[in-house]
Amino acid sequence: MIMADSRKLYFLPGDGIGPEILAEVRRVAEWMNAKRSAGFAITEGLLGGVALDKFGVPLPDETIAEAMRSDAIVFGAAGGPKWANVAPHLVPEGHNGLLRLRREMELYAKICPLSMHDALVDGSSLKRDRVEGLDLVVVREIYSGIYFGEPRMIEDLPDGTRRGTNTEVYTTPEVTRVARVAFELARTRGRRVCSVDKANVLESSRVWREEVQRVHDAEFPDVELSHMYVDNASTQLIRNPKMFDVILTTNMFGDILSDASAGLVGSLGMLPTAELGVPNGRGKPRALYQAVHGSAPDIAGKNLANPIGTILSFALALHYSFGMDEEARMLQQAVTRVLDDGLRTGDIMQPGMRQASTTQMGSAIVAALDGLAGRRT
Ligand code: IPM
Ligand code: MG
Repeated sequence: MIMADSRKLYFLPGDGIGPEILAEVRRVAEWMNAKRSAGFAITEGLLGGVALDKFGVPLPDETIAEAMRSDAIVFGAAGGPKWANVAPHLVPEGHNGLLRLRREMELYAKICPLSMHDALVDGSSLKRDRVEGLDLVVVREIYSGIYFGEPRMIEDLPDGTRRGTNTEVYTTPEVTRVARVAFELARTRGRRVCSVDKANVLESSRVWREEVQRVHDAEFPDVELSHMYVDNASTQLIRNPKMFDVILTTNMFGDILSDASAGLVGSLGMLPTAELGVPNGRGKPRALYQAVHGSAPDIAGKNLANPIGTILSFALALHYSFGMDEEARMLQQAVTRVLDDGLRTGDIMQPGMRQASTTQMGSAIVAALDGLAGRRT
């Protein structure tokens, strides 16, 4: 088996519910090893408050080095009340934590797929006809924009007041590379990209809009491209989300619009993401996978968390990092089957359904994988 042990998975469980949900992803990966000869070699490292406690920094150099050697990172979550009051430069999810890992790995496209599971439509805060069958993806730039632009600082002014500054910057290459990710993705689905900006006010957005249009005209004329201002986009997202196929947007607008879209689907616990970067030298992008939800400290350690968001993030890893598309589909189907069977963790519980713990949900998904594999082979 040529591929054996050549697929390096790096698990960063992090804080709160992170370790519990990654334990369930581990079971899925081990199933893939046993039943699909996947050859995953799993190592584990520290990122977040756990790293801060042990090494005094949220992202140790050791973690960065191992991240660079891996084919895919699966991240749990970072932060919690224990670290709520640490100095700004030590915030687990801040510029020396998760954001630094994005920079070091040069991850630049965050893919946030939002599809409504039929079984969960009633959990949405919108009317059934607005969200039934909803299937959109937000492609968010995460390497640049206001998160990292210079200058950024806090100054003490002579009159005793203060000034905080951040800078929204976009350059041609930063825009074109993420635009290509969105257009390529659109080709595999509804062939429509809506690029969201604030070009009526911001120079950075004018560059954004013009460069997106240029890439489109030169390389993706078969994809339908529209442009929308971010204020209008936020209205349309809540009024008529099904009008979107792929939304392409900047770092900060994407942070907001992806969480807003997550709100449409209802359960944060269900939603996966992929953060993709420059080539890793082995024919794939550098990549980090994590659920949309955070560390949920209130339910940590209680076997209550929903592992589905992270398990579906692993399905994205199977696709983007390992080219295992059949297994990715199987895993998505296994999740759908378990939901259709009426199993629910607390966050998605509905009347008449059966409540499951984190580990029970993981077991049910692995059993569903067995069922699907048995049927196919
Ligand atoms: C996300 C998160 C991060 C971001 C935080 C934790 C820095 O909200 O991935 O959307 O803003 O990018
Ligand atoms: Mg966010």
